[in-house]
Amino acid sequence: MESPPLLLRPDYDNVIVKRFIIATLLWGIVGMLVGVIIALQLAYWPANLGLPWTSFGRLRPLHTNAVIFAFTGNALFSGIYYSMQRLLKVRMWSDKLSAVHFWGWQAIIVSAAVTLPLGYTEGKEYAELIWPIDLAIAVVWLAFAANFFGTIAIRKVKHLYVAIWFYMSMVITITVLHVVNNLALPATLTRSYPIYAGMTDALVQWWYGHNAVGFLLTTPILGLMYYFLPKAANKPVYSYRLSIIHFWALVFLYIWAGPHHLLYSALPDWAQTVGMVFSLALLAPSWGGMLNGLLTLRGAWGQLREDPILKFFVSGITFYGMSTFEGPMMSIRSVNALSHYTDWTIAHVHSGALGWVGMSVFGMLYYMAPRVWERPLHSVSLATTHFWLASTGIVLYIVAMWTAGVTQGLMWRALDESGLLQYPNFVDTVKVLNPFYWIRFTGGTLYLVGVCVCAWNLYKTARSPAAPAVTENPEATAVVGA
Ligand code: HEM
Ligand code: HEM
Repeated sequence: MESPPLLLRPDYDNVIVKRFIIATLLWGIVGMLVGVIIALQLAYWPANLGLPWTSFGRLRPLHTNAVIFAFTGNALFSGIYYSMQRLLKVRMWSDKLSAVHFWGWQAIIVSAAVTLPLGYTEGKEYAELIWPIDLAIAVVWLAFAANFFGTIAIRKVKHLYVAIWFYMSMVITITVLHVVNNLALPATLTRSYPIYAGMTDALVQWWYGHNAVGFLLTTPILGLMYYFLPKAANKPVYSYRLSIIHFWALVFLYIWAGPHHLLYSALPDWAQTVGMVFSLALLAPSWGGMLNGLLTLRGAWGQLREDPILKFFVSGITFYGMSTFEGPMMSIRSVNALSHYTDWTIAHVHSGALGWVGMSVFGMLYYMAPRVWERPLHSVSLATTHFWLASTGIVLYIVAMWTAGVTQGLMWRALDESGLLQYPNFVDTVKVLNPFYWIRFTGGTLYLVGVCVCAWNLYKTARSPAAPAVTENPEATAVVGA
């Protein structure tokens, strides 16, 4: 029997979902605006403005922190709070903890936005924030974890749908990664010294860096895909069994692949090989997950013409397939010899970030907003416009960076007849790459305009007069496997 439309169940906390949606859009615009500014700086150096606070070196970590922890972080929380309550048929365990989580997370973001341009940093990529902020992150994260597991404990359904397992892997792994990588001895309020040294420090850092990608930008988004895609397509997930295999294989393999960031470094050779082998093996569960997502749409492909939500999801999943093919290839030593230090890495990062993360997040926002604000989407055609702006932006960005990266790598290794470097000066490549940097800047700007269009569309949705509520698809659709 079908369950009644979920909006008739008033006890779900939609306020927390709305707050996280608003924060996602706000920080998304800020983080990507900074991305566009640093893209401009790489094409046109006077855009550094000659000030320390606006220099590339300080704005780059502001961009990465804002898009990973503020944009993606808030988006994940909005989707998790929305789907968890509906999957477990219960309101979040504690409204107070939800509020601590929301306001605490925003306070952390604001403190990052102040300290990074001022030059306060621990110098570890994606873990730049100084130790007092690290402590605050641990406290707020544990508040979220308590609320998460508390809600599981009071759930009204026995079965834990696969999406919840993916979320759980994020909650547990990020706790461990954050604590272990940030162990440090504070010297002053703004400075500390890591307890690790040399190669050990690098290994711990890239175990963290790689798994931050894995357990913030990949596994939770997969969980959201397993919830929102069947809902949006009104089809059960293609194979529930495959989703379980996908989950266990992915979490087991991911955690070992970090050394692919340290190929040709002082890390022992065997450890580099372990990283490479596990990265290659990751291709299997990643593509299993991609196929499970795409095949969920069997018989529903026609809906793609009309429905912007499905357009975003299909594009996101396709980029997931592309970046999880490219990643294992880049972890092969001989390929990495060409790609490392070049813009090829930046192309890979953004096909994952703009393509997989961004497109999936927007699909999810367009699904959730009409349901939590209980109004139809203001404009489907604006959402479709957003989709095309984003798609064009991504293509310009990544094609430019692939071309730039391969050109850069080939120029660095080119030898003349006497065996000497053909392009011995770094500036030789910089000059050749300049047009590509302008193309990336144009692509990034289009993508950012798309995010602004989305924010406007959802703002108008929230402010429109009350209309017949948008109901949810029956819960059974998402949970029953084929
Ligand atoms: C308007 C959209 C965006 C633009 C224009 C943009 C631009 C940039 C630029 C110029 C860099 C520095 C590249 C370099 O150092 O050579 C960068 C780095 C980075 N961006 Fe973005 N970005 C955008 C969106 C995003 C999003 C949405 C995410 C994640 C969800 C993201 C994640 C990253 C990461 C992780 C790096 C560091 C890559 C590395 O160190 O290899 N970006 N971005
Ligand atoms: C099977 C999956 C994947 C594998 C095996 C993989 C592998 C790699 C490799 C080999 C590098 C280059 C390391 C270097 O030369 O320094 C890299 C960089 C990176 N990848 Fe992936 N990748 C995968 C999927 C993804 C996805 C889906 C995303 C984003 C959502 C992503 C985000 C990144 C980021 C941010 C970096 C840059 C790290 C840095 O140097 O700052 N990767 N990845």
